[in-house]
Amino acid sequence: MAVIGSDIQEAIKLLRAGDLVAIPTETVYGLAGNALRPEAVARIFETKERPTFDPLIVHVANLEQAYRYVESFPVKALELAKHFWPGPITLLLPRRSLIPDLVTSGLDTVGIRCPDHPLTQQLLSVLDFPLAAPSANPFGYISPTTPDHVNQQLGTKIPYILDGGPCRVGLESTIVGFEGDQPVIHRMGGLSIEKIVETVGMVKTYLHSSSNPVAPGQLKSHYAPRKKIVVGDIKELLSANSSTRTGVISFQRDYSHPYQIILTKDGNLNEASYRLFSALRDMDQQDVDLIVTELVPDHGLGKAINDRLTRAAAQRD
Ligand code: TXA
Ligand code: MG
Repeated sequence: MAVIGSDIQEAIKLLRAGDLVAIPTETVYGLAGNALRPEAVARIFETKERPTFDPLIVHVANLEQAYRYVESFPVKALELAKHFWPGPITLLLPRRSLIPDLVTSGLDTVGIRCPDHPLTQQLLSVLDFPLAAPSANPFGYISPTTPDHVNQQLGTKIPYILDGGPCRVGLESTIVGFEGDQPVIHRMGGLSIEKIVETVGMVKTYLHSSSNPVAPGQLKSHYAPRKKIVVGDIKELLSANSSTRTGVISFQRDYSHPYQIILTKDGNLNEASYRLFSALRDMDQQDVDLIVTELVPDHGLGKAINDRLTRAAAQRD
């Protein structure tokens, strides 16, 4: 299994040698490698068993570093970066040719993000290259929010997991692209759309599609446990499946069910966000055949939670 530790020097050494290291961010753990070295980037795809048509996000310490890798910032992109970086928002910006094709899957934009975690900030400010990092899970599975999550699935494939504790936000970054100066949401995530709108005004959303080739994180089925999962009215689902061993993940209510996880007794959407992926993993490991769950209030981070629940429950094609 991988070594779990908080030794930045070890992480730096491995990354400089072209190896991969799992890194903490405020959203989820990332599987990081030198974004400027195609062999390191190729190793990321192999380790995750991720199709190479699915581009990677490039992580930098700050705006100054981001300028090295992008041609230009639309005005509203700059406003968003100044307002929310470091933080859970990824901007899709015209890339410079310094970024290898493999990182962007040949697209002419690159996803750039400045993560808000002290250890990873330290790492990025020392390195003289940016880090390509997808979520540190096998393709299609639930993203990891603790070092143990990473170790359980990728531990035999990577040497080191930088331990930054449990992720504070717990949902992947919100991805924003631009049509001219018009922001377009490509993935809902850890920064709410309301906050983005407060800063730059109206945004478009471009999310759905079951086979959208430019943003496979938006595949209809993604972020999914191995067990079958259904979303609906928990009470009705329990009575319709009374002969099945069922696990319940509820938002706030206590269903007095033997296998049950309540995301937030106080109805707090932040708490529900950072507990969601752990809850899905825990339930996936319980002795149940079906996970039943429900949508949460559809505002703020609730929109991103509902997006992940819906994709987790979608039929795999
Ligand atoms: O919070 C996060 O964003 C985490 C942490 C580790 O930073 N990373 C993450 O990466 O969620 P990943 O690879 O699991 O999801 C990135 C998503 C993918 O769905 C990919 O298709 C999309 O970002 N993406 C990346 N670059 C893109 C681009 N140039 N155009 C469109 N979509 C892009
Ligand atoms: Mg992912």
